[in-house]
Amino acid sequence: MGKKTLQPLTKPIVGDVEVPGDKSISHRAVMLGAMANGTTTVTNFLNGEDCLHTINAFRALGVSIEQIGTDLTIESNGLSTLQEPKQPLYFGNSGTTARLMLGLLAGLPFQSVIYGDPFLTERPMTRVLTPIRRMGATIEGRQDGQLLPLSVTGQQLSGMTYTLPVKSAQVKSAILLAGLLAEGETTVIEPTKTRDHTEKMLQAFGVDLTVDKNEITIKGKQELQATTVHVPGDISSAAFLIVAAAIVPQSRLTLKNVGLNKTRSGILDVLKQMAVNYSISNQQTVSQEDYGDLMISNGKIKPTILSGSIIPRLIDEIPIIALLATQAEGTTIIKNAEELRVKETDRIAAVVDVLSTLGANIEATEDGMIIKGKTPLSGGYVSAYSDHRIAMMAVIASLIATDKVILDDDSSIAISYPNFFKDVQTITA
Ligand code: S3P
Repeated sequence: MGKKTLQPLTKPIVGDVEVPGDKSISHRAVMLGAMANGTTTVTNFLNGEDCLHTINAFRALGVSIEQIGTDLTIESNGLSTLQEPKQPLYFGNSGTTARLMLGLLAGLPFQSVIYGDPFLTERPMTRVLTPIRRMGATIEGRQDGQLLPLSVTGQQLSGMTYTLPVKSAQVKSAILLAGLLAEGETTVIEPTKTRDHTEKMLQAFGVDLTVDKNEITIKGKQELQATTVHVPGDISSAAFLIVAAAIVPQSRLTLKNVGLNKTRSGILDVLKQMAVNYSISNQQTVSQEDYGDLMISNGKIKPTILSGSIIPRLIDEIPIIALLATQAEGTTIIKNAEELRVKETDRIAAVVDVLSTLGANIEATEDGMIIKGKTPLSGGYVSAYSDHRIAMMAVIASLIATDKVILDDDSSIAISYPNFFKDVQTITA
């Protein structure tokens, strides 16, 4: 528990910073490396708590994973390496670990029990359990088998075709991992495209997987071949610093090696819509993922309306986009973002609470929020709701506040951005 007093910034943000590795890609690199034949090396792995839970889970399943800083070496003889864990698997706060592991554990020939922290324990798992049970999974647990802790009895699964009822890459990925272990083919149809790291990385590990518009098909019973994965910087972490540079007068910031995958880069579209100055240089593609350097500077900000297919492309950035909108001249409306209600916390309620405490004109709607700018932000006492993205949003808000902001607890930040304060310090020093 770390209460933090945050002082307003009195000068511009300047300099260069390299944000940590992408959280979604780091999880998947461990998972696929552990399932592959041979030695997988991962560079720029995110040393955040969520991803460390994924490493620990695979160690408990018998996989050798050596970590030196942000480099991993994963040794596996493929799926046959994975053994029944002797203890329940603890996933902390990590929804990605829980949901993707459910898809995998459901098709492995042993018993496992999974659980998490009090927040993960309340998060909906039915969205994953319904499709994988249809493939033959046997999973029991709390509240009629809907919530963690869950007990998984591995089964021979069968392929199926499934249309996603929720806009969720975690659900899609869980079904694809189950499909990899299943007999026959599995097709996932996603009415709205969500992040495609699982599809890309499965292909990089040699899996026969086809993507035809919004339909993804994977053949079951395939072996993965070990490879090298370089993890780009996390655009969701970069978003906090992007907004800092956009709202602090006279700022000019460069963020190096940021992941620019189109299914994740909705925030860049928003910057354009809101007239925030930015440019991209040094674009490259490594391990099928695009990345490049982003340069952002402060200027006059316009309001925008966000809804529909852009929402999954920036779902984790909405808290910090809401802060940006408080500094836009006019009304910003965010719609179709009901998924925010079931994130690490109810992020619609949390964002509205924190920003209105700091003097913003912001109102919650069922599936989003309405923000009227431009309002100066005041100091105040705010709660992070034990949610890393709410905590980081409050820290960035404090930079432009007129008085000190006291954050109840900054410890959740270690979930996705362990060096956050160090990086903020670098660009504000
Ligand atoms: C993630 C998918 C998203 C995102 C989460 C990470 C992933 O969740 O919010 O932070 O790695 O697949 P949903 O699948 O619930 O939308």
